[in-house]
Amino acid sequence: MKKIFIIFFILAVVTGSFFIGGCSKSSNSDKKVDIFFPAGMERWEKSGQQFKTELEKQGFKVNLLFAKTADEQSKQVENAIKDKANCVVIGAVDSKTIGKALEKAKKNNIPIIAYDRLPMNTNAVSYYATFDNEGIGIAMGKYIVNKYNLKSGAGPYTIEFFQGADDDNNAHIINKGVMSVLKPYMDDGQLVVPSGQIDFKATNTPEWSPQNAAKRMEKLVAQYYGTRNLDIVLSASDSVTDGVIQGLMNAGYSGSWPFITGQDATKKNLAYVEQGKQGFTILKSADLINSKCIRMVKAVIDGSQLEINDVKTYNNGVITVPSYLCIPLIIDKNNIAQVH
Ligand code: BGC
Repeated sequence: MKKIFIIFFILAVVTGSFFIGGCSKSSNSDKKVDIFFPAGMERWEKSGQQFKTELEKQGFKVNLLFAKTADEQSKQVENAIKDKANCVVIGAVDSKTIGKALEKAKKNNIPIIAYDRLPMNTNAVSYYATFDNEGIGIAMGKYIVNKYNLKSGAGPYTIEFFQGADDDNNAHIINKGVMSVLKPYMDDGQLVVPSGQIDFKATNTPEWSPQNAAKRMEKLVAQYYGTRNLDIVLSASDSVTDGVIQGLMNAGYSGSWPFITGQDATKKNLAYVEQGKQGFTILKSADLINSKCIRMVKAVIDGSQLEINDVKTYNNGVITVPSYLCIPLIIDKNNIAQVH
């Protein structure tokens, strides 16, 4: 038995995928899937609606709810117990605190699948469908390195960092990826951060909110960019970028327009990319993550075949969650036609 498992494991590593479970097919019509996502962001709303439609096509009963606060979302998860859901899919509002509610659901035999964001410090999560977040950070950093010819010693360029929310594990991982690429260029002076705000503690954006990013950008312009140009803004998401742009305008920034990054390929930000207000965004295809997540839902509900491709990256402090990491795509002026 041990031998068979080892052979299976080696095969899985070689092929880069893991298939688990049998192939039993049963009717989904009496199976309830509860999906709980954060409210107020285009990307989550669009992905959630698409996910619901796809599951319904396959016969599942779907309850899709959005929450503004961590408390509201915890209550939604607790209601899934009363609702006798067969599976909960969670895109956490607050990855650090949702664990308690998820554990109650797990105790009531409801399997939990994490969508895009990983709930921390809990053993309640069975599987995790996401994108390669460190890869996203690295890709952001490398784009800057190439665009500004940093490898050939160009610079100095000014840069400011606008990272994601502290309560979202993804934000930390993206920051790690970005810094692994850009830190050497800050150390040797090719990239200069006039505000000195480099650590995640100083650069995170609570709730990934445009308002919070705008306020910080206004302060930065007032203090550091009265007469100086800001060349680059490394912004971790489109919602943060919205705030960065608003903040630059509110503060009356009059230097040359910076190269601003983003993530999520929202409608408004794709338009910004076309207009040159934003340098690039990153497409996290809803179809892709949804298809992987649906396989996870089916696997926990009826034991059908599961596809995962990572069993080592996503440790949440308690367990390492078997994951499927989807590949994101950078969208800039050159390939924007692909998403229209
Ligand atoms: C996701 C990003 C998104 C952000 C704000 C993060 O968890 O990884 O794609 O921009 O949440 O919604």
